[in-house]
This record gives sequence, C-alpha cells and structure tokens, in this order.
Amino acid sequence: MNIFVNQFWNWYVILLVLGSVLICGVFLWSQSIHHPGSEQTSDTTGHVWDESLQEYNNPLPKWWMWLFYITIVFALVYALLFPTLGSFQGLLGWSSSGQYQIERQRVDAQVNPLFDKFLKMDLQTVAANKEAMEMSARLYQTYCTQCHGAAAQGSREQGYPNLTDKDWQWGGEPAQIVETITAGRMGMMPAYGGNPDAIGGEAGAREVANYVRSLSGLSNDSALAAKGKPKFETVCAACHGQDGKGMYALGAPNLTDKVWIYGNSEAKIVEAITKGRANQMPAMKDFLGEAKIHLLSAYVLNLSMGGEKK
Ligand code: HEC
Ligand code: HEC
Repeated sequence: MNIFVNQFWNWYVILLVLGSVLICGVFLWSQSIHHPGSEQTSDTTGHVWDESLQEYNNPLPKWWMWLFYITIVFALVYALLFPTLGSFQGLLGWSSSGQYQIERQRVDAQVNPLFDKFLKMDLQTVAANKEAMEMSARLYQTYCTQCHGAAAQGSREQGYPNLTDKDWQWGGEPAQIVETITAGRMGMMPAYGGNPDAIGGEAGAREVANYVRSLSGLSNDSALAAKGKPKFETVCAACHGQDGKGMYALGAPNLTDKVWIYGNSEAKIVEAITKGRANQMPAMKDFLGEAKIHLLSAYVLNLSMGGEKK
C-alpha cells in the first residue's frame, strides 16, 4: 500500500535515508585518506591540557574503520531488500501486514480442523459436548465478554442482553442464534418524546409506563394504567404485540415477563418511550467465520439451558 499521498514525502524519505548514509561514508573516507601519524612520528593537534596532556592526531584503528564500512554496506543492502526507501517495497516484498497474514494462516491451519469437527454436528449435540464447550468458552472470553460480560449476564447500563436466561430478544432457536451472531442485530425503538400526538407527552408516557408495568404484575397506578392501555394498543402493539409479548423478528422485547434489558422502573420505561431505545449486536461473519460462530452459538444455547460455564 502506498501511504504517501504525494511524491514529495516519498522523495523526502529516500533522500534523507540515502543522504545520511552517504554523509557517513564520505566522512569516514575523509578520515582515512589523511594519515598524519602514519610515520610513527608524534604528530599532535597542538591541544594541550593540564600543562602536559597532549592530543595526538592518530588515524582511527583499521578494524574500527572496517566495522563502520560494513554497517554502511549493511544499511544499503537492507534498504534494497526491505521497505525503507519511501514507497519502494523492497526486493523481498516483505510487509508487516503480510507477515501478520502468514502467521494468522499458520495458526488457522492448526486450529481450524478442531473447529471444523464440530461444524458437522447440530447445535444441541455440540452444546452437550464437554470439549466443545471448553473451546467455545475460550472463544467467548476473547470475542464477547467486552459487551456481554465475563459471566454472560449482560449489562443493564449499556443495554447488552443477558445470555444466561431463557428469555430472548431475537429468538433462541438454534438457527436464530446462529443468525444473530453471523449477521448481527440492530434493535430500534422510536422515540415518542418529540411527538405529543402519539402518546401525549411526558404525562402520556407515564400512563403507558404504568400499563407496561401492569403487564408483568409490577406495582402500578391502575387509573394511569387504564389510560395507557389504549395508547399501548395503538402505538406499541405494532412491535411489542397486542399482548405485549414482543416479537423476535423485530427484536422487540417481551414486556410481560420478569426479564428486562434496560430496567423496569417507571422512570426507565418512561425514558424508553420518550427517548427511544436502540442497540446493535455486531455481525461476526467475516471476523470469525462459520466454524467459530457454530461453536459460539452452541455455547450461548448451553448457557440458556443453565449450562455450566467453564
Ligand atoms: C460491541 C458489543 C457486542 C459484542 C462484542 C457482542 N455482542 Fe452480542 N449483543 C450486543 C447487543 C447490543 C445486543 C442486543 C442487540 C439489540 O439490542 O438489538 C446483542 C445481542 C446478542 C444476542 C441475542 C440475545 C437475545 O436475547 O436474542 C446473542 C445471542 C449475542 N448477542 C451473542 C453474542 C456472542 C456469542 C458474541 C461474541 C461472538 C457477542 N454477542 C458479541 C452487543 C455485543
Ligand atoms: C418500531 C417497533 C417498536 C415500537 C413501535 C415500540 N417499541 Fe419498544 N422496543 C422496540 C425494540 C426493538 C426494543 C429493543 C431496543 C434495543 O434493542 O435496544 C424496544 C424496547 C422497549 C423497552 C425496553 C425493554 C427492556 O427490557 O428494558 C420498553 C420498556 C419498550 N420498548 C416499551 C415500548 C412502549 C411502551 C411502546 C409504545 C409507546 C413501544 N415500546 C413502541 C421496538 C418498538
């Protein structure tokens, strides 16, 4: 890849590298043609310190000069073989990203057969396989903990779902889990705060929130909830369903159970209604590949069945 947007910097680097090597060489050479002390006479520079300490003008030792010449030759050969001179790639074609790819391929060649073995089994079988669960637990720790947490219980602050329960936002069938991890998911709930017609502003949002709390048997103000019910049925049911049980296809959570992504206080629900909610699970297809996703899906399935976390 050519990182130089214009030729100026390309030549700047080339001239800087070659110029400094050349200057070193010329300087060294100039020091070796003049042999003031070669006749073994005591040729001094004329500098005297502490009354009797004189500076001799002897040539540099030969072995030292040659070492220096060797470093210059080394520098030039190196610059020819490896990327040193501006955008010139070097005769060997070596690059740090190429090196990374080679190492990655080597590791993949070692571990992929291990993963591929499980690709032929269905998810339930893999989920019950101890060796597979140990491997996938390590994959989980590497690729998923930063969002879903080391114990896979998610984060309410950030809206990362808990993966250890039987409650699903996008569905818990093997195919649905694989799809979630492969293609990613993007849950989008619109904000109704700026749209008083739909809900009736903050006051309307509180009515609906009380109705939502009633759906899962939480304490609520029944007068407000009664006013909220018809609003829920016209506005919210499109995604959360008439009964509030949610819809996997849209990632609209079930509002009638005890599991909450963002929290079930009246304030949290009002916040969901007025500000909307949105979150994204990144697609892992290109990053992890089919075999690793298969193992991770089995791991998630196992977690939801109360599987032991290794
Ligand atoms: C950058 C943060 C992030 C990472 C990394 C991440 N996830 Fe997620 N994941 C999310 C979010 C956010 C959601 C909820 C998406 C939504 O709100 O629509 C989610 C949803 C899910 C779901 C759906 C849960 C349900 O109830 O339907 C599964 C399964 C899942 N993630 C598994 C994984 C696995 C396995 C990994 C590791 C390969 C992983 N995630 C890595 C953020 C992340
Ligand atoms: C267009 C579809 C859609 C509509 C309409 C909709 N929602 Fe949602 N709702 C969602 C989605 C999707 C999520 C999950 C957002 C995420 O992934 O972060 C959600 C999340 C929520 C949550 C958070 C649940 C939790 O577990 O923390 C609440 C509460 C909620 N909605 C209530 C409502 C109410 C009340 C209405 C009507 C005023 C409504 N929704 C209208 C799609 C919708």
